[in-house]
Amino acid sequence: APPVRRCRGLLRSRTMPHVVCPGSFDPPTLGHLDIVRRAAQLFDRVTVAVLINPDKSGPFTVDERLDLLRVAGSGWANVTVDSFDGLLVDYCRRNGIDAIVKGLRAVSDFEYELQMAQMNAGLAGIDTVFIPASPEHSFLSSSLVKQVARYGGDVSALLPAQVTAALARKLGR
Ligand code: PNS
Repeated sequence: APPVRRCRGLLRSRTMPHVVCPGSFDPPTLGHLDIVRRAAQLFDRVTVAVLINPDKSGPFTVDERLDLLRVAGSGWANVTVDSFDGLLVDYCRRNGIDAIVKGLRAVSDFEYELQMAQMNAGLAGIDTVFIPASPEHSFLSSSLVKQVARYGGDVSALLPAQVTAALARKLGR
């Protein structure tokens, strides 16, 4: 039989693959948490990194988003939560992160995600691993959730319970 050729990629060449799930998480949804949970099953260590972006703020402060993510991810031993500003690839280099993990909901996500993945690979040689969103989350986005909640719609099936409660408080309900 021909010798088995082993792949020397991310999963085999590192003893401790450490990945980052970056985003705005304003607020974190069940779609985000599904991707983080699945990344935590595939990789040794996952850092969920909230972008500090002065151009895109509200309704939750970065500290509030970190707290919500910490509560929602508290059951996962290999997941930590952090914030970052500046370039994602610089954050990765400073923290010994091997790869970026992103969820893909639909083809419409792909074009921009591919651009960012290629830019990040070009800047720093850091690859992006895409995890397909679960079908029940393919329509879900933080901005739609905020819009529906603002007009009184029920978003409790789309968010962790503590995020639903925090959003209701923000909206004065
Ligand atoms: O949840 P979002 O807003 O879609 O997340 C976008 C995010 C944070 C992943 C992206 O904007 C990002 O990486 N920003 C950091 C700045 C940076 O590195 N920009 C160049 C990306 S190619």
